[in-house]
Amino acid sequence: MEYIGEWMLHDMDEVTSTNDEVLKLTQNIIGEKVIISARNQTNGRGRRGRDWISLEGNLFFSLGFECDFKDLGAMVFISSLGIWRTIQDLNPLLDVQLKWPNDVLVNGRKICGMLLEKGEGHYLIVGIGVNIKAAPLLVSTIYPCTSLLDAGIDVDRKSFLRSFIGNFDNYVNMWKSQGFAPIRDEWLAHVKGLGQAIVVRTDNSDEEGIFKGVDDHGSLLMETAGRIKKIYAGDVFYPQRNIVVNE
Ligand code: BTN
Repeated sequence: MEYIGEWMLHDMDEVTSTNDEVLKLTQNIIGEKVIISARNQTNGRGRRGRDWISLEGNLFFSLGFECDFKDLGAMVFISSLGIWRTIQDLNPLLDVQLKWPNDVLVNGRKICGMLLEKGEGHYLIVGIGVNIKAAPLLVSTIYPCTSLLDAGIDVDRKSFLRSFIGNFDNYVNMWKSQGFAPIRDEWLAHVKGLGQAIVVRTDNSDEEGIFKGVDDHGSLLMETAGRIKKIYAGDVFYPQRNIVVNE
């Protein structure tokens, strides 16, 4: 066991899911901030009931910390910004963008996903997977993926995790001192497709509209037929229009 700042880190070889390990841990602790990372997950979970393919060399970790559940929206954006900043610091020229609610894209492809779950008591679990060395093929995911190595960045998973924790703590401090507004503004400054057409896939439909921003709780705001609609959960896609030249 080691510490990164105030966070107690357990780095494990193989687990079902780092979220499962933090959930177990939160049954016996109060007040502590914990991280479980693992070299392999045998049952990594993604959002909306999907699997998370855990390829060798990638980073899988979960944070466990006490949090008021009304602040869930802020935590989603703080976590995504923490990853965004960590990658941007490794190469300030790289095209790193965010995608609602909590994906991070490099060169337009997904490099990181997050799964937030409730732990024991007031604990929130923020599970994060970062494609450090390898990316799953498109046939096994709903969105094209990439890795840091594909983008020319060779970093080890432990140093990435350390930098992330520093950035996460900085954004939490910003939120505690200044509230959600500057977090949302920074997130909106780096999100893909603001003001443009998006498709939101929910359980039973695909709906297209214009991405207008997010509300005070992090819900997506989409304009359809002249009205603003709030979306609480779903997957965002960017429609590819066929551009016909010289016809
Ligand atoms: C998604 O994009 O669908 C979310 C993926 C979340 C994956 C991470 S890997 C670490 C943690 N453990 C899990 O089982 N899931 C999260």
